[in-house]
Amino acid sequence: MDTFCWGVVGPGNIARKFANCLKVVSDARLQAVYGRSEERAGVFAREFGVARVHASIDDLIADSEVDAIYIATPHSAHKEVALRCLEGGKPVLCEKPLVVNAAQGRELIEAAQARGVFLMEGMWTRFLPVMGQVRTWLESGAIGELRMLKASFGFRAAWKPEGRLLNPDLAGGALLDVGIYPVALAQWAMGESPAQAKALASIGESGVDEQLAVVLSYSGGRLAVLDCAVRTKTTHLATLYGTEGYIEIQPSFWTGTQAALYDGKGDLVEKADCPLRGNGFEYEVEEVMRCVRAGQVESSVMSHAHTLANLELLDEIRRQIGLRYPFE
Ligand SMILES: NC(=O)c1ccc[n+]([C@@H]2O[C@H](COP(=O)([O-])OP(=O)(O)OC[C@H]3O[C@@H](n4cnc5c(N)ncnc54)[C@H](OP(=O)(O)O)[C@@H]3O)[C@@H](O)[C@H]2O)c1
Repeated sequence: MDTFCWGVVGPGNIARKFANCLKVVSDARLQAVYGRSEERAGVFAREFGVARVHASIDDLIADSEVDAIYIATPHSAHKEVALRCLEGGKPVLCEKPLVVNAAQGRELIEAAQARGVFLMEGMWTRFLPVMGQVRTWLESGAIGELRMLKASFGFRAAWKPEGRLLNPDLAGGALLDVGIYPVALAQWAMGESPAQAKALASIGESGVDEQLAVVLSYSGGRLAVLDCAVRTKTTHLATLYGTEGYIEIQPSFWTGTQAALYDGKGDLVEKADCPLRGNGFEYEVEEVMRCVRAGQVESSVMSHAHTLANLELLDEIRRQIGLRYPFE
């Protein structure tokens, strides 16, 4: 199999995690990088042995040796960068959230489908081995019928209102940065979008949601109770409650390496080890490589419909908490 060559846009924090994960993907190489500063991109290139630093995004897109582009800019820049890549015929893996709202999502997905170019949101947690174990237990009826899901993802970021986490111009706030993980987990487990959502948030001084809680109601009376925060550390636990027991994803649900199954009395029945081969990004990366090599436009695991349903739910939650970004 030919080596799959990746290009990166936005050589910041998470691009480094992506570059590190490629060390455990035997048939992949980081080939090229583009950043707004050639100096910063050069530092990144030297750190990871990247062959080419491109002076413009168009040069990166035109690089015939690049098989796909990973976009790791702040959320607010995802749409513009991804659209240019798709228009140039380059497959895209774009960091979560794919874009800031569902309207942008539709535009991007239509562009990918019209041109027949692969596009996937980097919802990497969906590809972790632990999720396979949870799915197996859900489908085998190990906890009976799923009734309720609880998930929490909050951390305390430093007070830096100009940074991407708290800055409304960069689509900051807890919901889009970390709330998307519990939301995506609930959607995955429930297998549909909720009939109703009720959200409350604390909007901080910088004008974005510093913490947020939402209850979602799904068909059959099933509920998801979710919270997220960027100025408060929370447990990062996820529990799926059924009529005959419950499942916990440990030690934190978004980077889970163990799944625990409890019976209806709360006694531990089984603990499954699901170690990561690398830092966890390798599974989504391998899915993208498999899909691109097979000539697919989307992944069935994190499909365009999944991304769009999540974006529509995020829009509704933001509508309820009254958060609109200045550029919307
Ligand atoms: N999957 C995960 O676990 C995970 C974790 C953290 C973050 N993320 C996602 O990854 C993305 C980036 O987060 P990060 O923490 O890596 O941010 P970051 O460290 O600030 O890196 C983003 C990079 O994008 C470039 N950039 C900054 N502003 C830009 C703009 N307005 N337009 C174009 N490029 C810009 C910058 O590089 P240059 O200035 O050199 O161009 C910067 O280094 C976000 O969408 C975030 O949600 C995902």
